[in-house]
Amino acid sequence: MNAQSEVRSEIQPGQQVTWPPLRTELLGAEPYGAPQLDVPVALNVNENPYPPSRAVVDDIAGAVTLAAATLNRYPDREFTQLRTGLAAYLSQDAGYPVAPEQVWAANGSNEVMLQILQAFGGPGRTAVSFAPTYSMYPEYARDAMTGWVTGRRREDFSFDLDEAHRIIEEHRPSVVLLPSPNNPTGTALPHEVISELCTLLDRSGAPGVVVIDEAYAEFRRAGTASALELLPEHRNLMVTRTMSKAFALAGARLGYLAAAPELCDALRVVRLPYHLSAITQAVASAALRHADELLGRVEELRTERDATVEWLRAEGLEVAPSDANFVLFGRFEDRQAVWQRLLDRGVLIRVTGPEGWLRVSIGTAAEMTAFKDALRDVMTEVSREVATR
Ligand SMILES: Cc1ncc(COP(=O)(O)O)c(C=O)c1O
Repeated sequence: MNAQSEVRSEIQPGQQVTWPPLRTELLGAEPYGAPQLDVPVALNVNENPYPPSRAVVDDIAGAVTLAAATLNRYPDREFTQLRTGLAAYLSQDAGYPVAPEQVWAANGSNEVMLQILQAFGGPGRTAVSFAPTYSMYPEYARDAMTGWVTGRRREDFSFDLDEAHRIIEEHRPSVVLLPSPNNPTGTALPHEVISELCTLLDRSGAPGVVVIDEAYAEFRRAGTASALELLPEHRNLMVTRTMSKAFALAGARLGYLAAAPELCDALRVVRLPYHLSAITQAVASAALRHADELLGRVEELRTERDATVEWLRAEGLEVAPSDANFVLFGRFEDRQAVWQRLLDRGVLIRVTGPEGWLRVSIGTAAEMTAFKDALRDVMTEVSREVATR
């Protein structure tokens, strides 16, 4: 008898199973779904509002044409050229040379993180984050059959190391997942926090990895450091990035990470064969050649973000300081009603974060003007209604 046949099914003979035969923990679960609505002003999923220029479109199209001529063959499993390009790009931000062996990529950083949990999580293991945090993390954990625990951030959304010590000692996680800047609050993590978490996990009885999700890193304010700078000091640190946000390439689906070569190597065990298509590799490599241009609007978006924060404060709202391309603001007695009234005026934002708060992505100057006009209108309407109650 081999080991496989000794595993007992949780389904007993004669037991009624629902149809379709979903895993128990998926029963009643809804698919991920920020609304994809056709509205004049879409500011709900933190995209870059600027499409690629004609020159970039032409270069990407040329690269796709070349790749198309090879589509009878499987793509380069190790995406060597793309890895080299990503390593060169990361080296600029890290301030030291990042080697291609320290880089991994997949179809969006969503897939990168699922692979991390498949490799380092799994049944009998736990992943941890600190709320408010990115809403997809518990879903990755569930899909990788990994236990999920959330600690809390402080009231002002800053990171509470005492809480982290408590949660880590109690649950001994094999993965700690933290966005920096945080989604939905925009808060970046200080280096001291990241270093302490890495040390804490490394010295615990059951060592794990610390994943700093830097999906929004390029938008951070001057003086805010990247976790990339800490990689040489911590063997258990993984820093994920994406081309979906600052790079203005959400449609291409390319996420990546930097970590010690043995951690990248471990992810090769769980990735699906040829997981990055030849087309994806060609598009991402072409985009990297135009990094300066694609990232050229980041400064403008940062300025627009800071102006939005100031404007919201001047309107008397609470606003979380942001290092990202979105702003969390509130608090509203009925945030769903405010969201709906903005949508009625053609402006789509996001209901997320703690009760009472809403999140707006930073768009073009014209889109932000439309957002501000609509919000002012909605707030006037709401206060008039409250006055006549
Ligand atoms: C914190 C964070 N991480 C990761 C992602 C996923 O990005 P992608 O899969 O497009 O790379 C997002 C997307 O909104 C995000 O907000």
